[in-house]
Amino acid sequence: MAKLIDGKAIAAEIRAEIAAEAREFQEKNGVAPGLAVIIVGENPASQVYVRNKHRACEEVGFRSFGYELPADTDEEALLALIDKLNHDKAVHGILVQLPLPAHLDEEKVLLAISPEKDVDAFHPYNVGRILIGNYDFLPCTPAGVMELLARSGIEIAGKECVVVGRSNIVGKPQALLLLEKNGTVTVCHSRTKDLAAVCRRADILVCAIGKPEFFTAEYVKKGAVVIDVGMNRRPADGKLCGDVDFAAVEPIAAAITPVPGGVGPMTITMLLKNTFTAARKQGAK
Ligand code: GUN
Repeated sequence: MAKLIDGKAIAAEIRAEIAAEAREFQEKNGVAPGLAVIIVGENPASQVYVRNKHRACEEVGFRSFGYELPADTDEEALLALIDKLNHDKAVHGILVQLPLPAHLDEEKVLLAISPEKDVDAFHPYNVGRILIGNYDFLPCTPAGVMELLARSGIEIAGKECVVVGRSNIVGKPQALLLLEKNGTVTVCHSRTKDLAAVCRRADILVCAIGKPEFFTAEYVKKGAVVIDVGMNRRPADGKLCGDVDFAAVEPIAAAITPVPGGVGPMTITMLLKNTFTAARKQGAK
């Protein structure tokens, strides 16, 4: 039986630490860390994520500022709002919820966020800093995975790490972070030949492809650590599930993250951490 990596419990532990530090921060500086969240349009999944971000801020004593813009907002108006927030001293972090409506240029919008307030770490300046290992912010999901591994006492140095998925938000930065911790890293994707054989080499397998229960027992070496970044609906019953077939893989793995309750709760926790870092960097103690 695998050890269950309890993301919910680990996230709660970190949020309690952040809340305690936020109280101290507020006493010293007279302000709380502040996060602005912009959502354009009415994508229901995005609305849930944004609500959870506001709630998480409230829970740890941060200020959050919500901007709900109509789906037909033009680029100029969105860029003007970002510019205003870039200059607002009460706002330490700015997040534009993705995806944006098709008529908006995502790259241009993300470039407009001041790198010091870029708590998603999506700005090319911050991406470059991650590449050279000198960063203030890490993208929230891969940072959450690293925190789960660290707090579960899982050693990375010298281990065979296989990351499946090469998105800018998860796969690519995940590979860099594992490399930074001296893992031997392989990145797999849709064109990888004999994916199962490559995955079976992994001591640490990170699954981030967005396909419900794709990773079955044949993808996993006995005793591997399996991290499931997927958040899907199972076609059979519409229930939440990961990229990993949990029932099939759990008996083989040494440790595994469940879905829900694994990586998911860590993502917003890392957003809080980045917002705190931004507040500290912007002159407050
Ligand atoms: N949409 C889905 N995930 C994310 C995320 O991590 N940040 C933002 N800004 N939008 C998202």
